[in-house]
Amino acid sequence: MNRSTVPCLLSLIRVSLIQEIFHEVVRIIKLLIRSKFLLCIVIFGFLNFACGSSDREEIEVTLTITPEPVVTATIVAESTNDQESLPQIRRTPVAEPSIFDTCLMDTKRRPELTWVVDKTRSLPDGFVPSDLVTLRDKLVPAGFEGRLLDAETTIHFEKLIEAALEAGFDLRTRSTYRSYQEQVWTFAYWVDQLGKEEAERVSAKPGHSEHQLGTTVDVTSASVGWILSEELGAVPEGIWLFENAYRFGFVESYPVDGEEITGYAYEPWHIRYIGVECATAWRASDLTVVEFLETLVEPLPHPDLPDSVGM
Ligand code: DAL
Ligand code: ZN
Repeated sequence: MNRSTVPCLLSLIRVSLIQEIFHEVVRIIKLLIRSKFLLCIVIFGFLNFACGSSDREEIEVTLTITPEPVVTATIVAESTNDQESLPQIRRTPVAEPSIFDTCLMDTKRRPELTWVVDKTRSLPDGFVPSDLVTLRDKLVPAGFEGRLLDAETTIHFEKLIEAALEAGFDLRTRSTYRSYQEQVWTFAYWVDQLGKEEAERVSAKPGHSEHQLGTTVDVTSASVGWILSEELGAVPEGIWLFENAYRFGFVESYPVDGEEITGYAYEPWHIRYIGVECATAWRASDLTVVEFLETLVEPLPHPDLPDSVGM
């Protein structure tokens, strides 16, 4: 064997070894393909690549919390491998109920608080408030003791009077609940004093007065001599009442310049309790009370009383 034969033999052995290895690799690959193992690895690799770019998924759902508000919650689901990160809920308020919606909900509690009572819509026959209480003496001027008022209205009226006192104003009521029969006498009195046409501007016919609800008070002050006078609207006590009554649930049924809509002359003293929620909504509405109440409830199915009633 000469010197050049040795490298040649080594080269042949290397080629044969490489071929051996190549054949062995091909055999293993064929084996893997047959057993579908390689296919699984390829699919797994692809899925890992496709899903790996986003390791979380956002699902938007709407939750309705009875009765309101509606909130949108975004549930963020972390990748399945991330065991420490449990799904989180981000709560984003979408729509707070408006003051009008809050009022609407409150009307379900005591519908009579927001009944429309005017010249054409009367109270149900024989209506008497179910929970009348006697007002404390400090709430009425001397000589007007024993006045009756709806219990819930009384609580809020007392708060109104206390707030007025804190502001430096002494307000009291001289007229509260009036029964159907008392309204018969009241209307007849005004017809006698003013004649029918003028009486109808200042007094309701029986069955048509908000006073029969038990939730209405006529307010007065020493500065107007404890009478029911338009002057109340111009004195500080009356201005305070006009500005603040709604905070305690009271509304002014017969505003200045409202006669074409309400049918009654200006009565700055006449306030009706409809609940704090609805009084707040009314205040923001820029409507007369009757217009506002019409937006809340169906008119009562009671036809106008004949002209002869209460005359
Ligand atoms: N003064 C009001 C209109 C009533 O009589 O009820
Ligand atoms: Zn009144």
